[in-house]
Amino acid sequence: MSNINRVIQSGYFNDTLRQWQCQNTHITSLNLMYPIFILDEPDVKEEITSMPGVYRQGLNHVKSMLDPVVESGLKSLLIFGVINKLPKDQYGTHADSLENPVIQALPLLKNWYPELTIACDVCLCPYTSDGHCGIIENQLIDNGKSINRLGEIALSYALAGADIVAPSCMMDGHVTAIKQSLMKGNLLSRVSVLSYSAKFCSVFYGPFRDAANCAPSFSNRSSYQIPVGSSSIAERVVDRDVSESCDMTMVKPGIMYLDIVRKIKDKHPNIPLFIYQVSGEYAMLYHAVQAGVVTLKEGLLEILRSMRRAGGDVIITYYTPEILKWLKEVSPL
Ligand code: PBG
Repeated sequence: MSNINRVIQSGYFNDTLRQWQCQNTHITSLNLMYPIFILDEPDVKEEITSMPGVYRQGLNHVKSMLDPVVESGLKSLLIFGVINKLPKDQYGTHADSLENPVIQALPLLKNWYPELTIACDVCLCPYTSDGHCGIIENQLIDNGKSINRLGEIALSYALAGADIVAPSCMMDGHVTAIKQSLMKGNLLSRVSVLSYSAKFCSVFYGPFRDAANCAPSFSNRSSYQIPVGSSSIAERVVDRDVSESCDMTMVKPGIMYLDIVRKIKDKHPNIPLFIYQVSGEYAMLYHAVQAGVVTLKEGLLEILRSMRRAGGDVIITYYTPEILKWLKEVSPL
C-alpha cells in the first residue's frame, strides 16, 4: 500500500470518526469561568475602551448584566473589585472594607444565583496607592506583610460568601497564608483556593490594568511575576502551591503558554488546571475579527480547543457569554 503513512484518511470526513480522534477537547459550561469587574459607584456602567464589548459596572447594573448569562447556563464567575472613588493606600485598606464593591456584591449574588460558584480575585493592586500586588516597604515588596494581608482579605471574601478565593498576587507562601486564615475562620471545608500559580510578567495584561485601574505607579511587576522565557520557575511555583495544598492551579496568559500548561498537567494530573485567556488575548481576537481575519466563533473555538488539548480544564474568558449562547444550540462544542 503506497499511502501507508497517510494517517488522515480512512473516512475522516465522517464527523463521528473525527470526533473519536479528539480526546478530551470538548467545551461545556463546566469548562468556563466568567470574569467581571464591579465598580464602587453603584449607578455607573462604562465600556472598557481597550476591551470593546466588556464593561465595568456598579452594583445597580450587575443583575441585569448577569441575568441572561446565568440563564444561558453560567456555572462560575470570577469577580474583580475596582475602586474609582474610594481612596487607595499602602495597605490596600479598601480591599476588604465594608464599602468594598466585592464585599457588597457577594451576599446579593449568592441570593440572586444560589447555584452559581463564585470566585474572588485576591490581590492588592486595585487598592494600593502604588498599584503593586503586595505591600511595598522601602521600594521593595515585603513578602511576609503581603501574605498576612492577603490572608485577611481572602477571609473577608470567604465570610461574605465566596466559594473560591483566587490569589493573583504571586507572593511566596500565599496559599499557606490563605489556608491558615480560612482555617481560623473555620471555612476550609466550604471555600477552595485557586492559585494563579504560573503567572507570567506579560504585556498582555494592559487592557485589564485600564479596566481595574491598577497599573503600578513605579517600576513594574517583574520582581514577582515569572520571566516570559522561564519554564523552570513556572514549574517550581506550581510545585510550591501544590505542596501548600492549593485546590486548583492556573497558567496565565493562555495562548502563548500552552507548553507550560501541558507540562503542569502531566506533572499534576489530579489538580484542576485553569487557563486565563487574558485581556490582551481578548483584544487581539476582537480586533482580528473586526479586520476580517477570522470569524469569532471559528477563531475562538480553535483557541479554546487548543487550550483543552494542552491540558486546561477550565478557561477563564471574557467571551463566556458568547460561548454559552453557542452551547445552547450545540452541546458540547
Ligand atoms: C492583578 C491581576 C491582573 C490580571 C488579573 N489579576 C493584572 C496584573 O497582574 O497586572 C490580568 C487579567 C487580564 O489581563 O485579563 N494582580
